[in-house]
Amino acid sequence: MLKECIKGLNIQPSGTYVDVTFGGGGHSRAILNELGPQGRLFVFDQDENAKANLPDDTRVTFIHSNYRHLAKYLRLHKGIPADGILGDFGVSSHQIDTPERGFSIRFEGRLDMRMDPRADLSAWEVINTYSREQLTDLFFKYGEISNARRLAAAIMEAREVAGKIDSTSDLADLARPLSQGKGAKYLAQVFQALRIEVNDEIKAIEEFLIQTPQVLRPGGRLVIMSYHSLEDRPVKNFMKFGVLSGEPEKDLYGRYDCPWKLITRKPIEASEEETADNSRARSARLRIAERI
Ligand SMILES: C[S@@+](CC[C@H](N)C(=O)[O-])C[C@H]1O[C@@H](n2cnc3c(N)ncnc32)[C@H](O)[C@@H]1O
Repeated sequence: MLKECIKGLNIQPSGTYVDVTFGGGGHSRAILNELGPQGRLFVFDQDENAKANLPDDTRVTFIHSNYRHLAKYLRLHKGIPADGILGDFGVSSHQIDTPERGFSIRFEGRLDMRMDPRADLSAWEVINTYSREQLTDLFFKYGEISNARRLAAAIMEAREVAGKIDSTSDLADLARPLSQGKGAKYLAQVFQALRIEVNDEIKAIEEFLIQTPQVLRPGGRLVIMSYHSLEDRPVKNFMKFGVLSGEPEKDLYGRYDCPWKLITRKPIEASEEETADNSRARSARLRIAERI
C-alpha cells in the first residue's frame, strides 16, 4: 500500500516528514520522490543495520533510536513542527530473513528477536529465565494463545530436562505438539508473542502515538500501517477519540477533545493483487488522520 501511504501523507514539496520505521527505505524513497530540494525527511530505526539502506541524499537525517523517543529527537534536530509522520510497524523482511536474528520459524537460529541489537532482553532470556506465570501471561496477551498455560508448562519442563532452550527450532519442536491442529499458524502466534515481549512493541507504539499531536502542525498527517489487532487497536482509538483505550472524558455537553480529523473512517486494506505478491500485505491495515 505504498501509493496509499504516500497519498495519505499529502506531501508538500518543502515540508518536513518523518518515517519512524525506515527499514529497507522503500517508503522513504517514495517520500523523497515527492519532496522538493527544501524538503526534509527524518527517519528512525532502532536497528542500526537499516542505515545501510540510506540513500545518498542531504535531505535525509537518520535517527538511530526507538520511535518511542520521537519528540525528543525531532526537537534535537529541529524537526518540529512536522507535516507528516509515517509508521509501518513490525519487523522488516531483511530482519526476518536473517537466520541469526532468530525471528523466523523458517530458519534455524539462536533465539534472539531483538530489533535493536543493543537491547539487553532477547528471546533467549525470556524463554530461559521468565517464570511460568510470566510466560503464560505473555503468550495469552500477545499471541492470543488459548492453551498458553500448557505451553508455559512445556517450556518449564524442557528447561528442567535440557537445562536450556537455545534455538528457534528447539522452541518450534516444543510448541508444535501443542498446536491443536493449527500447525504453522500456532507457531506464528508463539513467535509473535515473544517478539512483542522482547521489543516491548505495544508500549512503544502507545508512547509514540501520544507524542504525535505535539509534533505535527495543524493539517499535518499521521499515516500508520499495522499488522495485527494489538497494534491496530491503540491506533484506531487514538485517531478516533484522542485516547489510547476506553472512552474519552466528555464535558457537560457530551463533547470531547480529539486532536484528529479522520481521513479514513475504516482502515484501508491491500488489494487482491497486492496480497497475491506479498503475504504480509494480507494482514495490513492502513489508517490516516489529520491534525486539527
Ligand atoms: C516493516 S519494517 C519497515 C519497512 C519500510 N517501511 C520499508 O519501506 O522498507 C519496520 C522497521 O521498523 C523498525 N522498528 C520497529 N519498531 C521500531 C521502534 N519501536 N522504533 C524504531 N524502529 C522500529 C524495524 O527495525 C524495521 O527496520
